[in-house]
Amino acid sequence: MLKVLVVDDDADLRLSVATALSESHYVVDQAKDGEEGINRVRSTHYDLVLLDVNMPRMTGLEALKEIKAHDPSIIVIVLTAFSNVRDAVEATKEGAYNYLEKPIKAENLVYIVDKALKAQRMVRNMTMSAPVFKLPGGTDFIGQSSEMKRIFGVIDRLARVDTAVLIRGESGTGKELVAQALHFTGPRKDNRFVTINCSAIPETLIESEFFGHEKGAFTGADSRKIGKFQYADGGTLFLDEIGDISAGMQVKLLRVLQEKRFTPVGANREVEVNVRIVAATNRNLEEMVKKGEFREDLFYRLNVLPIHLPALRERKNDIDALTKYFIEKFNQQHKKDISGITPETMALLKAHNWPGNIRELENVIEHAFVIETENVLTPASLPGSVAGSYHKKAALAAVTDLDPEVDDAADLDDLEDESGALICVSSSDSGAPVLMGGKGFTLDINRLDFQANKEEFERQFLISALKAFKGRINQTALHANIPKKTLLRKLAKYGINAREYV
Ligand SMILES: Nc1ncnc2c1ncn2[C@@H]1O[C@H](COP(=O)(O)OP(=O)(O)OP(=O)(O)O)[C@@H](O)[C@H]1O
Ligand SMILES: [Mg+2]
Repeated sequence: MLKVLVVDDDADLRLSVATALSESHYVVDQAKDGEEGINRVRSTHYDLVLLDVNMPRMTGLEALKEIKAHDPSIIVIVLTAFSNVRDAVEATKEGAYNYLEKPIKAENLVYIVDKALKAQRMVRNMTMSAPVFKLPGGTDFIGQSSEMKRIFGVIDRLARVDTAVLIRGESGTGKELVAQALHFTGPRKDNRFVTINCSAIPETLIESEFFGHEKGAFTGADSRKIGKFQYADGGTLFLDEIGDISAGMQVKLLRVLQEKRFTPVGANREVEVNVRIVAATNRNLEEMVKKGEFREDLFYRLNVLPIHLPALRERKNDIDALTKYFIEKFNQQHKKDISGITPETMALLKAHNWPGNIRELENVIEHAFVIETENVLTPASLPGSVAGSYHKKAALAAVTDLDPEVDDAADLDDLEDESGALICVSSSDSGAPVLMGGKGFTLDINRLDFQANKEEFERQFLISALKAFKGRINQTALHANIPKKTLLRKLAKYGINAREYV
């Protein structure tokens, strides 16, 4: 049942409003002034508040600000006498949904309350549709696909326990975000989250990095140093790229995992720690175990609770939400005001295979931001790797009269493959699509060999034919008795723009 609060100092009015709304199946509470209203909003959940503007002690406007500060999604409708309409208009600027003039007619009241709540349900659904983990540093970890919603559920459960977690997944799928989500939503969140990138530390330093060392423990150890294990005490230690640690370190790591104790380099005392281990890798550890490159016992220790992040191409439903998120993020970062993305651009994003996963998507959106001059992202702002086929079609349309959407012979991929003479491709840097011959053509008059002359003849022949048929590809191909694909390939090869002869 939807709950409404009426805040007004006029008891008769409260009663008549409450009666009208109860008959329409709303649950209605009453408050006699702004202060009581705010207290009620703080202690009970309301979907909508009807708020008098003119009340003793605290004005409706002041109460409105407090209510909105407490929960911006509460709908507030202001009640006002005609003489105070100006205040009511002011209130809509402060976030009130609308205002109603006194005396209030029951049917108007019910109509406007119904309508406002319907609008609110739509907004709430939209904001609910992409679940989010809020992480420190302003990063959101979001997912909309059923795969990611399931993983969010798993993270929720695993955050509460202390067992080691192994996060698997291709590069750029968000493994580090999972590790952070596990830490920052769990009971260790007030202690440190410490990362060791196992592939980035030279073998000679790694033991000291993990466990610390005493002064003079080895050449260059001129002071005592605390290792990451100790630094993370009470918190989480994230071992990134765990597949890259050496055999020697694997043994030492296994021992700490089992005994929760270790000896710093050069020390003669053991140190005890309470650290939760989260590890990540994009390597195939099972395969490495088989080949003897990764210890089986360590693998089982780490792999107690595995989380596998699917590649982005396996959860394309996330592309929408991620793209919107990155647009918002880069609007702030680049101080731009890109309002969205055209449907055809979104279609290109959905069609791409994303070998670099979310990191690649993030880079593509940032790249688009830098070169986009409109206030929406368009295919022209995407790099060739994502929008290659689109650029090719645009190039073809720019220099011929063919319509790539309907002209089946203009099969661009074929064209590129067979001839080696490339149809290309905009550089999204310049924005403008161009049709180019990959080999290009230059005639060296000092080398009058047959092939060169044949090519020069072909080039001139094609230009003449195009002139005769006003640059029309189908006509030229027909009359010159040359397959259309061959014609296109040769135009590309010689860099001829048929549009010039229209
Ligand atoms: N679900 C997501 N929501 C928002 N941003 C994401 C999401 N997944 C990944 N990202 C972003 O994509 C980038 C890559 O993510 P991350 O570094 O966690 O990937 P990874 O799996 O650790 O990759 P690698 O194996 O290369 O280390 C980061 O900038 C991260 O913030
Ligand atoms: Mg990573």
